[in-house]
Amino acid sequence: MNLFLEAAVEIAREAGAILRVEFGRPKKISYKGEVDIVTESDRRSEALILSRLQKHFPDHGIVGEEGGNVAGKKYCWHVDPLDGTTNFAHGYPCFAVSIGLLEDGDPVAGVVFNPVSDELFFAARGEGAFLNGTRIRVSVVNKLAYSLVATGFPTHHRAKSGNINYYWEFTQRSHGVRRDGSAALDLCSVACGRFEAFWEFGLNSWDTAAGILLVREAGGNVSDLAAGPYRPGDPAMLASNGLVHDEILQVAAGIAERNAQDAG
Ligand code: IPD
Ligand code: CA
Ligand code: CA
Repeated sequence: MNLFLEAAVEIAREAGAILRVEFGRPKKISYKGEVDIVTESDRRSEALILSRLQKHFPDHGIVGEEGGNVAGKKYCWHVDPLDGTTNFAHGYPCFAVSIGLLEDGDPVAGVVFNPVSDELFFAARGEGAFLNGTRIRVSVVNKLAYSLVATGFPTHHRAKSGNINYYWEFTQRSHGVRRDGSAALDLCSVACGRFEAFWEFGLNSWDTAAGILLVREAGGNVSDLAAGPYRPGDPAMLASNGLVHDEILQVAAGIAERNAQDAG
């Protein structure tokens, strides 16, 4: 394991331990937007991750969801200290710490840790993807009709999102669409073959920086929803096992066209 990944794994475990303990306690919730929740645990986890990263890598940049911002050039860490805050706040045990490192915008190391299931996903560019130390691969299902897929919905501008039409269409065409509430874990589920694909609009760089590397290193494909390249922070993302990618893009193109007609 390279030094970047080694440090990120250690830090994700430490932050995850905070979340695990605080998950069982009463939570103090505040709102960043209409339904965009934040808890003390988001902030405590981020403070720990930032201080550890700065100590290990003083020259690196950091972008943290809860406001942590450290300027840096070549290398930049994108940190979601608690992905799945709504789940966490409601006592639904599906959330994670996500830490991804970009080198000139390209993912090179990523860790996603679910402290409840004790599942630690990690990957380094060119070195494969792993779950609790065992190599993982995407699934071999090659038809949407036999796929389990996933999506998520934004907490901002909810009424403007056309994603419900994608949800409806893919529900008809697959084994089902899951909406688990943690984009980082959804990406890990594609990487280890539980889901064939995951798409979402409006994700931030901290949601996907680690997870997309896991998918790619597990043999999958990541693009935007119009077959173009995807970089963390871009407005639309599709991650899949590669085998159902084109079929999903084709269906998505039809839905986008209909959404545009309805809007115009
Ligand atoms: C959210 C989760 C959710 C996704 C939202 C994200 P947060 O992140 O990843 O699954 O649908 O778009 O904002 O706010 O829990 O860190
Ligand atoms: Ca998130
Ligand atoms: Ca978060």
